[in-house]
Amino acid sequence: MTHSNPSTSSSSATPQPCVILAIESSCDETAAAVVRDGREVLSNVIATQFELHEEYGGVVPEIASRAHIERIYPVVKEALSEAGITNPANELDAVAVGHRPGLIGSLLVGVAAAKTLAWAWGKPIIGIDHVKAHLYAACLNDEPPAYPALGLIVSGGHTSLCAIANESTMHPIGRTIDDAVGEAYDKAAMMLGLGFPGGKRVDDRAHLGNEKAYDLPISRLSPDSLDFSFSGLKTALLYTVRGQPTGRGKERTFAKDFEDWNEEGINDLCASFQRAAIGAIMLKLERAYQYLCDSKAGNVEPPRSLIIGGGVSANSKLRTEVAAFAQAHELQLHLPSLEYCLDNAAMLAGMAASRFHQRDFDDLSLSPQPAGSLS
Ligand code: KG4
Ligand code: ZN
Repeated sequence: MTHSNPSTSSSSATPQPCVILAIESSCDETAAAVVRDGREVLSNVIATQFELHEEYGGVVPEIASRAHIERIYPVVKEALSEAGITNPANELDAVAVGHRPGLIGSLLVGVAAAKTLAWAWGKPIIGIDHVKAHLYAACLNDEPPAYPALGLIVSGGHTSLCAIANESTMHPIGRTIDDAVGEAYDKAAMMLGLGFPGGKRVDDRAHLGNEKAYDLPISRLSPDSLDFSFSGLKTALLYTVRGQPTGRGKERTFAKDFEDWNEEGINDLCASFQRAAIGAIMLKLERAYQYLCDSKAGNVEPPRSLIIGGGVSANSKLRTEVAAFAQAHELQLHLPSLEYCLDNAAMLAGMAASRFHQRDFDDLSLSPQPAGSLS
């Protein structure tokens, strides 16, 4: 539910300055940040939980929510202190929170904390969609993009393409039909004995290997599909690493495992996996660009910018390839700086500024939602 707060409404054409505290707790990072006027990051504090989930090879929801409860207060306190905020009730204008999508128990902690602080300080509360905020991350400390834009979200939970008409209007034109690309990276890392979360480790090892060593498949789907699929690549990697299985289901056994590979072999597998995973993303990015340039598909104007966000936007090969893509198509490229690629609260606080200026607030009935608007 959204509502305007008449006591803070303004008729001035120039947006009044705003300082917003945001809280992020959708998955396994507890984060808080303070951002001025949507772009100037005054603080950006992130407490990761990797060490708590590593032995399980993935995020355990109960462990994540318990850790959020323990960390949320110190993280918010540090974000305020780093931003030089000593009296939040006087110095802050609003409290924002990522309220969807995510793990319900994790979201509950952040939403409850944000509502409590907003109520105690007498500030409006603004619920933000975490996945949309990933696309805002590139705008922090940068000029606003030219619209319309083509958006690409590549994270641990999402892989989507979006048509973006303006800062607040976007609609999905493609999404993954199985795993997200970050999830595929994490599973590849587990198969290769590189631990969790493995995206960066696979990326680092890929630099040392030969990407043509193994011919892993680049998923295309049907000729005009803008959707992604990474399950075939994952299975192809599994069979390359461990050999063809014998037996089925629980009886399935493999002839070998990652321990049977030397360092050079693991590097080659990482490089070959990365070539196929990023190759699939670039293929769909080109298709999406052509689709948005096609007036017969109802598009009025071709995209002027390419906006990218999500944890996998930190990937070195993706960053190089999208830079060349943007240059070839004369698109403005908006790629988050490395500190804002992974989950953070600065992107939420930044995105909340336009909602603040429109007086588009939520109220204390704001509740967490496991699914997002781009899911
Ligand atoms: O956006 P994010 O922090 O969380 C979600 O909203 O899902 O993304 C986390 C994902 C993880 O799957 C992680 O392995 C992946 O981003 N990641 C990378 C790299 N750095 C992080 N994947 C590939 N290359 C990287 N350099
Ligand atoms: Zn995320």
